[in-house]
Amino acid sequence: MSGKSEKPIGPAHVAIIMDGNGRWAQKRGKPRLFGHHAGAKRVREIVEACPDLGVKYLTIFAFSTENWKRTQAEVSGLMKLFHRYLTRETRVLVENGIRVRFIGDRMRLEPTLVELMDNLELMTADNDAVHLTVALNYGGRDEVTRAARRLCREVAAGKVDPERVDAEELARHLDTYVLPDPDLVIRTSGEARISNFLLWQSAYSEYDFVDTLWPDFTKAEFARVVGAYVARDRRFGAVPG
Ligand code: IPE
Ligand code: IPE
Ligand code: MG
Repeated sequence: MSGKSEKPIGPAHVAIIMDGNGRWAQKRGKPRLFGHHAGAKRVREIVEACPDLGVKYLTIFAFSTENWKRTQAEVSGLMKLFHRYLTRETRVLVENGIRVRFIGDRMRLEPTLVELMDNLELMTADNDAVHLTVALNYGGRDEVTRAARRLCREVAAGKVDPERVDAEELARHLDTYVLPDPDLVIRTSGEARISNFLLWQSAYSEYDFVDTLWPDFTKAEFARVVGAYVARDRRFGAVPG
């Protein structure tokens, strides 16, 4: 193998913590929701950039299990925004061959929103250009806890032998069971923390923390971050060969 002529391998799965909407609005003397609207508009451009960059899977953090702690006005404004966004973007997503999935606990979400989510999953089920996963009412600890609960039920019902429960078996019960682990996790807005995002799945992901606030995060910057990933040396605990 010459190696030299091979194309550098980019990240197949990129996950993004879309942070900084509130500060973006604040800088303009506007209410936080103004920033959330601007942030939602960014999503389409980033999704559309994926095929050219070789990104097959894109997972975005839209609302965390901790975000309910915000004011009622902000939470209900965000829920309305999700309603609107899913309704308006359906056609483009279907036409562009985007397969949409949602991860997170749907139990606490409004039934009308859950219906939109279910429909979008169904309508895009045969698409394969880009697999877009939206984390909505998602928390990594919550996800692992729910997975453990499901597994416990199966053990209690005699369907699973507890001695055979390993990492793979647990991962099969996670919301992300059909997805590969993220290769690259990007967080915007300058914060260098995970905030309960994909805790299990990102065990060996590369991280990139960028200062840009999410509503300012362009396709060009996305391409730069994806390009920088290629130079990284992933070892997965082994000694480089
Ligand atoms: C991210 O932006 C969007 C959500 C968490 C819903 P923020 O709302 O957290 O914006 P900052 O961090 O306050 O600037
Ligand atoms: C993480 O951002 C959640 C989303 C981007 C949806 P937060 O703004 O909620 O995280 P913290 O509070 O700064 O850790
Ligand atoms: Mg934030």
